[in-house]
Amino acid sequence: MTEKAFHDERIDMARLPRHIAIIMDGNGRWAERHGKARVAGHEAGAAGVRKAIELCRELGIPALSLYAFSTENWRRSEEEVNALFTLMSKYIHLEIDELHANDVRIRFMGRMDRLPGEARRDLQHCLDLTANNRSLTVNVAINYGGRAELVDAAKAFARDVVSGAVDLERLDEDGFARYLYVPEHPEVDLLIRTSGEMRVSNFMLWQISYAEILTPPVLWPDFGKRELADAIVQYQQRGRRFGARP
Ligand code: FPP
Repeated sequence: MTEKAFHDERIDMARLPRHIAIIMDGNGRWAERHGKARVAGHEAGAAGVRKAIELCRELGIPALSLYAFSTENWRRSEEEVNALFTLMSKYIHLEIDELHANDVRIRFMGRMDRLPGEARRDLQHCLDLTANNRSLTVNVAINYGGRAELVDAAKAFARDVVSGAVDLERLDEDGFARYLYVPEHPEVDLLIRTSGEMRVSNFMLWQISYAEILTPPVLWPDFGKRELADAIVQYQQRGRRFGARP
């Protein structure tokens, strides 16, 4: 982490979002604008991951979720898919010790069993090493789809009903949420999608039910600490009502 913690007097430290989720969009366009290959855009995007983690850690935001690879991303070229997994492995090897030293816990959301063996081993190492860290949890969505998560949760719940472990009639929202990939998190307070696109793209459909949504027109590789701080300030200016009257 940086030596000097980030400070922004516009941010009300008493009303920080407890969980920020980010759809990191625009790597490809960034590469195109810089006359580079798409992979270079993803590399620049990986540097942005570090900045977002650092800022959340420095502010004391307890949960950050990042959309790294969706169930739909398999439709990209084999070259780009391989490059993305290689990049994630490289990132893990470079960053994991420092993340661990800074008490950051890494978790993964998605259908892990469908990933290549080597990637699974790297991810498992991150999970095991950081399992007891508590200052910040970073959930990385890989081979993730929000609908797939709900289907997987419904199946796991049905299995428990069939085995007699739970009672169908007692199921409520909190009970169902316990079957999600990372169950014990607060709901998402702030969802950011960079690059100005206004789509949810199958990300954390259950958890974003009451999230404030921001779509800054900045491509992910250009989204630094200042831009994330701006988003937190805008979030704090929103009047959250949760369906009630103000
Ligand atoms: C979307 O940009 C970005 C992705 C599909 C991949 C996100 C991956 C990273 C930021 C790098 C590695 C991640 C970690 C966790 C180390 P796009 O390619 O759809 O951009 P475009 O819409 O401009 O083409």
